[in-house]
Amino acid sequence: MAATSSQSVYRATTTAPVNIAVIKYWGKRDTTLNLPTNSSLSVTLSQRSLRTLTTASCSSIYPAEDTLNLNGKPQDIQSSKRTLACFFPLRIVSENNFPTAAGLASSAAGFAALVRAVADLYQLPQSPNELSRIARQGSGSACRSLMGGYVAWRTGELADGSDSLAEEVAPASHWPEMRALVLVVSAEKKDVPSTEGMQTTVNTSDLFATRAQSVVPERMSAIEAAIQARDFPKFAEITMRDSNTFHATCLDSWPPIFYMNDVSRAAVRLVHDINTAVGKTVAAYTFDAGPNAVIYYEEKDSELVAGTVKAILGANTIGWEGAFYERLANVTAPGVA
Ligand code: DP6
Repeated sequence: MAATSSQSVYRATTTAPVNIAVIKYWGKRDTTLNLPTNSSLSVTLSQRSLRTLTTASCSSIYPAEDTLNLNGKPQDIQSSKRTLACFFPLRIVSENNFPTAAGLASSAAGFAALVRAVADLYQLPQSPNELSRIARQGSGSACRSLMGGYVAWRTGELADGSDSLAEEVAPASHWPEMRALVLVVSAEKKDVPSTEGMQTTVNTSDLFATRAQSVVPERMSAIEAAIQARDFPKFAEITMRDSNTFHATCLDSWPPIFYMNDVSRAAVRLVHDINTAVGKTVAAYTFDAGPNAVIYYEEKDSELVAGTVKAILGANTIGWEGAFYERLANVTAPGVA
């Protein structure tokens, strides 16, 4: 970005992928710095199917105020402290190629792309790990979208949050057979946004403390070992159990929070039926703060898992709204697409 004239417009365009947690982040111990109550781990999905594309630009010819345009619509950023935490006097244009705020990690890809675009614009030397500290303040899960493959967000111990950042546990190339099928049960905005839902859980659920303090730390070590060993049955069992524990703490919140619906539960039953029918674990479901399912499986079981899920859920399920599927070809690293 060589400075030639004061009329110049400086621009940086980048994309960021969606990540889907297999060990869920749910709960903040510090809402200002956005520090989590527990570590989490996710798989970064291919940008071919789901990604945010963001351009950051600045120029002396722009009006003094910052602007953010998401999917063609101007956004109110002055009232959003979390956006301003990642902001400078800039013009940002961002576009998701998937439903926004429907429990498909749009805030993760969105804030990761924003931070990366701004860092690129100013040619900042920070590594993805360092940038994850900034992205975390926009949306917690965003810190995991700055890297590819299998990414852990360590809760950290320091009060200032400087050690609460994301790191790559294994690159996508470590386990190239991994696939994810996204079932868009509903593209509607979720009833209870994650930020609000998780604090209701922190403040009211009796199950919450056990999950955060003893269940998740053990699961983090176990799933990292399963990833290193490419042990799909182990990876799958931990993934499904953690999704279930997370949704159990939502149900245990007061008032209770329901993210899964009848179609989600049909997907859970179907995955267990497939695994029982073949006598081994070949598929794993996980649900974020919404009814949409993500099903992980290995390429060799693609016909069995993706084929069966599409045929059975698509054809027979009453209440199937979305009726479309994203078959992610691969799990790849992020970057400018
Ligand atoms: C269920 O990252 O959206 O998807 O930090 O308040 O923006 P904020 O929350 P957010 O929460 C994601 C919750 C989750 C689990 C996960 O992605 O780990």
